[in-house]
Amino acid sequence: MRSVFVNIGPLVSFRHGDGQLHEKSVEAPGKGIVVEDGVIKTIKDSQELIEEYSIPQGRHSVVGETTCFDLEGQAIVPGLIDGHTHLLWAGDRSREVSWRREGKSYAEIASLGGGIQYTVHQTRTASDDTLRVLGYQRLREALHTGTTHLEAKSGYGLNVDSELRLLEIAEELNNNAGTPTIDHTWMGAHDIPRGQNADSYVEELVSEQLPAIVEQNIARSADVFCEPGWFSTEQSETVLQASRNEGLALRMHIDEFADGGGGTLAADLGVETADHAYHTPMDVRLKMKECGVNTGFLPGTPYAMGDAWPNMVEVVDESIPFTLASDFNPNCRTLSLPFMCSLMVQRCGMHPLQAVAAVTVNAARTTPHPSDIPHGIIAEGAAANFNIVDGIHWESMVLRPSSSPFSATVLNGNFVSH
Ligand code: NIG
Ligand code: FE
Repeated sequence: MRSVFVNIGPLVSFRHGDGQLHEKSVEAPGKGIVVEDGVIKTIKDSQELIEEYSIPQGRHSVVGETTCFDLEGQAIVPGLIDGHTHLLWAGDRSREVSWRREGKSYAEIASLGGGIQYTVHQTRTASDDTLRVLGYQRLREALHTGTTHLEAKSGYGLNVDSELRLLEIAEELNNNAGTPTIDHTWMGAHDIPRGQNADSYVEELVSEQLPAIVEQNIARSADVFCEPGWFSTEQSETVLQASRNEGLALRMHIDEFADGGGGTLAADLGVETADHAYHTPMDVRLKMKECGVNTGFLPGTPYAMGDAWPNMVEVVDESIPFTLASDFNPNCRTLSLPFMCSLMVQRCGMHPLQAVAAVTVNAARTTPHPSDIPHGIIAEGAAANFNIVDGIHWESMVLRPSSSPFSATVLNGNFVSH
């Protein structure tokens, strides 16, 4: 299957593995792209492609076996990669918004029967079909705002059967050609189940859940909520080391509500990504950088929870490697990465190109494509995942927080109109 895109406006991409700001990351208008079998085959001058394929005038045409799209100067950006989602859960925690505004903390809400435990109950008692439909709807929602690949954590099961079920349903959803592809993470260490203590649960994680996950080969990574009041650094290390010994890649939730020392552990273990990190001191950020640890900033969480924003200007000045992700979860119910970029640009002083790099080329490092081909960039040989901006300036991607800034997404070579 071949598609040709001509008269492309500004084309945003990055050199692979390099998320730093470069003017040359934006190609001038006038390029064209040939896509074959889900991969970008050729990028060259649009006029040459129009002649080579005898493309007639008009926005959409079919010439022999080739489908042609004239973008009439619309900008394009790479397919967006969401490196942190809690995709599958059931139930509704909206009442917690009122509780928060009445002054209750995350921990108090948990002790009142809300929080993660509430969602665990709702999720365990939901049918497979309910979870499948919710997952499918959420994946379509993510695609609508340009996400072509996302990481999805389990973590609302908290026992062997329920954690496995969440990962199995996520894998079923991964085999649907019309939705973003999925990178699976086991997060049994998301909370301590009611009636258990943390140490005995850590023991269960390592001796029961982890072997079952490994046996089924159903997750690429493991994640732990390393935060005072949840898993201590020692308990987190036990789970993470055991997971590493079994060949899983490592991710962490750190310093979401307080500096709990998770950043130092992330650096010592050299985990792939340590996320939230709002309260991580700069010297620890620098240590994480030295150890090759990505920081996953999740601006939707402070947006929804009313917490402080991290000082992103300082982070950018120190060249701390980072991604932006949605942290989609019952408290933060948006999968829109353009919204995350918009928050960073409008509220945290970030340059728009830096924000786009954080949800594309940088995110590809922590969240690889299932077929292991490059993605998060627009380049020959990369996955044919890109977004057609509804406008001639790529910057409009960060100025449309309440609607999709894209008129269409090319998902593994398939054109999806929004
Ligand atoms: O990343 N902090 C831990 N986990 C999620 C929230 C989970 C929940 O409140 O259900 C997060 O923000
Ligand atoms: Fe999270």
